[in-house]
This record gives sequence, C-alpha cells and structure tokens, in this order.
Amino acid sequence: MASQTRSSIRFTVLLLIWVAAIELSMEPVECRRSKSHGHGRRGYYAGSALTGMPPRAYTASVKDFGAVGDGVTSNTEAFHAAIANLSQYSENGGAKLVVPAGRWLTGPFNLTSHFTLFLEQDAVILASQDLNEWPIIDPLPSYGRGRDLPGGRYTNFIHGANLTDVVITGDNGTIDGQGEIWWQKFKNNELNYTRGYLVELMFSDHIIISNLTFVNSTSWHIHPVYSSYIVVSGITILAPIISPNTDGVNPDSCSHVRIEDCYIVSGDDCVAIKSGWDEYGITFGMPSQHIIIRRLTCISPTSAVIALGSEMSGGIQDVRAEDITAINSESGVRIKTAPGRGGFVKDIFVRRMNLYTMKWVFWMTGNYGQHPDDKYDPNVMPLVHGISYSDVIAENVTMAGNLLGIERAPFTGICISNVTADMAKSKKLPWNCSDIYGITSSVSPTPCALLPDQGSDAPPCPFPTDELPIDGVELNQNSYW
Ligand SMILES: *[C@@H]1O[C@H](CO)[C@@H](O)[C@H](O)[C@H]1NC(C)=O
Ligand SMILES: *[C@@H]1O[C@H](CO)[C@@H](O)[C@H](O)[C@H]1NC(C)=O
Ligand SMILES: *[C@@H]1O[C@H](CO)[C@@H](O)[C@H](O)[C@H]1NC(C)=O
Ligand SMILES: *[C@@H]1O[C@H](CO)[C@@H](O)[C@H](O)[C@H]1NC(C)=O
Ligand SMILES: *[C@@H]1O[C@H](CO)[C@@H](O)[C@H](O)[C@H]1NC(C)=O
Ligand SMILES: *[C@@H]1O[C@H](CO)[C@@H](O)[C@H](O)[C@H]1NC(C)=O
Ligand SMILES: *[C@@H]1O[C@H](CO)[C@@H](O)[C@H](O)[C@H]1NC(C)=O
Ligand SMILES: *[C@@H]1O[C@H](CO)[C@@H](O)[C@H](O)[C@H]1NC(C)=O
Ligand SMILES: *[C@@H]1O[C@H](CO)[C@@H](O)[C@H](O)[C@H]1NC(C)=O
Ligand SMILES: *[C@@H]1O[C@H](CO)[C@@H](O)[C@H](O)[C@H]1NC(C)=O
Repeated sequence: MASQTRSSIRFTVLLLIWVAAIELSMEPVECRRSKSHGHGRRGYYAGSALTGMPPRAYTASVKDFGAVGDGVTSNTEAFHAAIANLSQYSENGGAKLVVPAGRWLTGPFNLTSHFTLFLEQDAVILASQDLNEWPIIDPLPSYGRGRDLPGGRYTNFIHGANLTDVVITGDNGTIDGQGEIWWQKFKNNELNYTRGYLVELMFSDHIIISNLTFVNSTSWHIHPVYSSYIVVSGITILAPIISPNTDGVNPDSCSHVRIEDCYIVSGDDCVAIKSGWDEYGITFGMPSQHIIIRRLTCISPTSAVIALGSEMSGGIQDVRAEDITAINSESGVRIKTAPGRGGFVKDIFVRRMNLYTMKWVFWMTGNYGQHPDDKYDPNVMPLVHGISYSDVIAENVTMAGNLLGIERAPFTGICISNVTADMAKSKKLPWNCSDIYGITSSVSPTPCALLPDQGSDAPPCPFPTDELPIDGVELNQNSYW
C-alpha cells in the first residue's frame, strides 16, 4: 500500500514535469510541425512513455503468431500479423510484443503507437537478406533523394511513422541487420537505391530505445527523424570499422533528445546530428536542437565521435555533450559543412572528453562538399557560431586542431579551454587554422594565432547550467512496461 502510494506520487510528479516540458517545448518550428501531423502532443498521453503510466494493457509473444526462432524460418508474416493485431490496442491501453530467446529471421516491419518491443535475453532479431522483402519508399523530404543514390530508398528494417509512445527495449537482446551483403553491393555499385536504416522513427514522439545491442546495420543504425522527446540509453552498437556509413545514432531534425551510456564501435560516426541537405533541408527547415549526449564510449578509426553535419541545412543548436570517451578515433566533436548548405551550427557545448589515439582532437571542415544535385545555391552559407570545448585530455594525438572555416562565412565564437593534447611523434604542425575566430585558455600545445590565449586566469568556456526537460526524465523499467 505505502509503496503504491509513493510510486503514484512519483508518477504524478513526473507527469507534471512532462506536461510542463511539453508546454516549454512549444517553439515556433516544432509547433508548426506538430500541428501538421495530427496526433496530440498535448493532453494526457504526453508523458506516458517516459513516466509512470500503467504497464501495457496487452502482451503477446511473437510465438503466438507462429514465429519460429531457428534462425532459418522466415517470420515476416508472423511479425506483420503481430503488429496488425497489437495495433488495435494503440488507443486502448497499449501493447507489448515479446521476442523470447532464439534467432528470429524476418523481413522489415513497422511499429505502432503505445507499443513496446521487448527482446528477452538471448533474443536476436535477424534482418532478412532477401532484397525482395525490402520495398522502396519515398526519400526523406529534407534530403530530396536517397543519401547514397538519387530517387527513393529501401525501407528501413524497423520503421515507424507518425507514432507516439514507442519503446524498443529488453534484456540486452540483439537486433542484427546482417548488413554484409548490402555493404558488398554498395561497394560494387550494384544497388539502385539508397540502403535503409536499421531503426527509423519519423514524425514521432516519446520514444525510448534502451538496453539492447544493435549490430551490422545495412547503413545507419538508429535514425530518429522529424521527431521529439527521445531517450537512447544503455545500448551497444557494433559494426566492422570498415563497413560503409554504419553510423551509430543519428538524430535528424529532432528536438529534445538524450543519448547516454552507449558503447558504439562502427564504420562511421558514432553519433551524427543532422538536419537535412542543401536546398531540401533549407525548405523543410526543421532543426535538431536541445540534445544531450553523455557517457558515450566510441571507437571510430575513420570518423568522428560526434559529428555535426554534414547535412545541417535545417540548423543544429543547443547540443550538450559531456563525459565522452574515445579510443582510436579520427576526431572528437567534428563540424562538417559546405557552401550551399545554409542552416547553422550554434550553441554547441562539449566538456570532459578523454581521448586515446586520435588523428585530430578538434576538426571543423567548411568545404565538406557532397550535394544532392546541382540545384543547390553555392552562395547560401552556413552560420557556425558559439562552439565551446573544455576539460579535454587527449593522448597519442597526430594533430591537435584542424579548423578550416569558410572564407566568405568564417566560423566565429569558438572557445577552447583546459585542454591537454599529448602529441604522438609527428612532423605535422599541431594546429592548422583558417577562417575561424575564437579564444583559448590553458590549452597545450599552444593554439594557432587565430585562437589567442587569454591566459590561465581566463574564465572557462561556457556550458549551460539550466536543465533541459529531457534531462531529468527517469527511466524505470517497472513504470512503463
Ligand atoms: C505522417 O505525417 C506526415 C506529416 O504530417 C505526413 O506527410 C505523412 O503522410 C504521414 N505518414 C503516414 C505514413 O501517415
Ligand atoms: C489478435 O487479437 C484478437 C482480438 O481482436 C485476439 O482475440 C487474438 O487472440 C489475437 N491473436 C493472436 C494470435 O494473439
Ligand atoms: C509500413 O508503413 C509504411 C508507411 O509508413 C507503409 O508504406 C508500409 O506499407 C508499411 N509496411 C508494412 C509491412 O506494413
Ligand atoms: C550487451 O551485449 C553486448 C554484446 O554481447 C555486450 O558487449 C554488452 O556488454 C552487453 N551489455 C550489458 C549491459 O550486459
Ligand atoms: C558483423 O558482420 C561481420 C561481417 O559479416 C561479421 O564478421 C561480424 O561477426 C558481425 N558482427 C556481429 C556482432 O555479429
Ligand atoms: C539494378 O538495376 C539493374 C538494371 O535494371 C538490374 O539488373 C539489377 O538487378 C538491379 N539491382 C538490384 C540490386 O536490384
Ligand atoms: C581541467 O580538465 C581536467 C580533465 O578533464 C579536470 O580534471 C580539471 O579539473 C580541469 N581543470 C579545471 C580548472 O577545470
Ligand atoms: C599511437 O597512435 C598510432 C597511430 O597514430 C598508433 O599506431 C599507435 O599504436 C598508438 N600508440 C599507442 C600507445 O596507443
Ligand atoms: C592546413 O590547411 C590548409 C588549408 O587551409 C591545407 O591546404 C593544408 O594542407 C593543411 N595542412 C595540414 C598539415 O593539414
Ligand atoms: C535496463 O536493464 C536493467 C536491468 O535489466 C534495468 O534495471 C533498467 O531499468 C533498464 N533500463 C532501461 C532504460 O531500460
């Protein structure tokens, strides 16, 4: 009795926090979008996924729909039947689909609202390698075409559109994209369309992805796009470091995102924040903002620990990254952009990074190139302003900083403080800077002249002290499934 009362009080408090968060989040861009896609962001559902609503009203196992976990039998029909069946509970208490221990081969499938996909220990969902099971879907409107190739794109393995309250979790089960055949076909130019992603949720809100392992995606692993209120917690992502474009987590035109306690080894950026591509991203105009990344461990020998861009035409702002560990990675928090992108990257705050064996601790690239077509306007410049890095220890570094802005649109407001980069034996200069402006303090080795040293008494670079609504949201297993 007593504990029930206590927990219902906690639920109520959390719900109130969420309702307040929802009101606070009604910023112009998000507001416009959220009105256009129908389902209520207000109202009592608002916090249900992340706070203490009752468990899902209905639970079923994939076995109830005839699935066989032998790793060979196709379970595509079983997964589709399960989702069709459980969709009926979306407006009626919600449902949970359990995947027990076993190897469950299936073609791509969709999720539904007020829904939990739960993978028990030793459960593995294997993506079908039969390309006929992967229909072609429309390109993302903010990209105008597929990322690999013009035109549409293969569907995502686990896909959701226009959903609310979706949880993908479990007891560290695995979602395996079996990407090898896709990587080979991509490298040999045998694909006619862009590869799908392992998990994509679009135009959705209140999403939790936790306590699972994701391996060998065809391309990016986790791709929330045009979505908000997202927590990605306690996940492992593993793909060969030579696999093409197997980014870890890519929030794309998303607001209020928290990525924490993740371990990512992949063939591309561990986390990449994006917001659309050139003229398509500018027209769509939906930024990525209010993003927390904490306690991330990354190995990415050919890419960034956290990339901002290169597709950033809808803008990226208010990103807070802290307690980042990287081993054998190309660069730390990298900005990638180009003339023609438009948009902005601003109010980026990074602190407490421990980096071991890095090519570049700091890397900004103003001439990234790569355009969707020849219709972009090369005179439309990105704005890069207000980028702060502090409390960084890096060992075995080839170059401390390679900071190259754009002549017609220099990167401004760069602040770097309290950094020690121990250089590997290298003939390269530690810093290479052009078309950037900013300040430094307590940085070793001595930065380039464009980043004048303010002396060791200078205040540290800023990091926000306010709490974002997504910051304090508690994840409690018993409270939502
Ligand atoms: C989802 O919402 C978007 C934006 O309102 C709309 O364009 C799209 O058709 C919807 N998609 C589905 C599958 O309902
Ligand atoms: C699907 O839903 C119905 C309720 O409409 C339920 O009676 C039935 O048992 C479900 N099917 C399976 C295979 O669980
Ligand atoms: C999944 O949803 C999309 C719309 O978002 C739809 O086009 C597609 O047919 C659905 N796939 C399945 C297997 O239901
Ligand atoms: C989950 O499984 C992965 C892959 O086997 C493993 O590396 C990771 O340590 C596991 N995580 C937890 C929390 O047990
Ligand atoms: C990923 O795919 C590669 C290549 O097929 C394979 O060697 C590796 O074992 C797979 N990784 C996991 C974690 O299953
Ligand atoms: C790509 O298109 C060509 C020409 O139509 C076709 O022969 C080939 O099978 C297609 N490739 C795939 C992977 O569908
Ligand atoms: C500088 O950074 C190191 C490593 O992150 C940290 O231990 C130390 O407290 C920082 N110093 C100041 C003055 O903030
Ligand atoms: C230092 O980095 C180089 C690559 O630049 C690598 O080959 C070497 O193993 C690293 N040394 C240590 C001690 O990690
Ligand atoms: C420094 O940057 C310039 C471009 O501004 C480039 O041409 C040069 O190769 C860079 N040097 C190093 C060592 O990276
Ligand atoms: C992850 O799993 C652990 C133990 O299985 C559980 O205590 C925790 O609540 C889970 N966290 C999330 C975010 O699902």
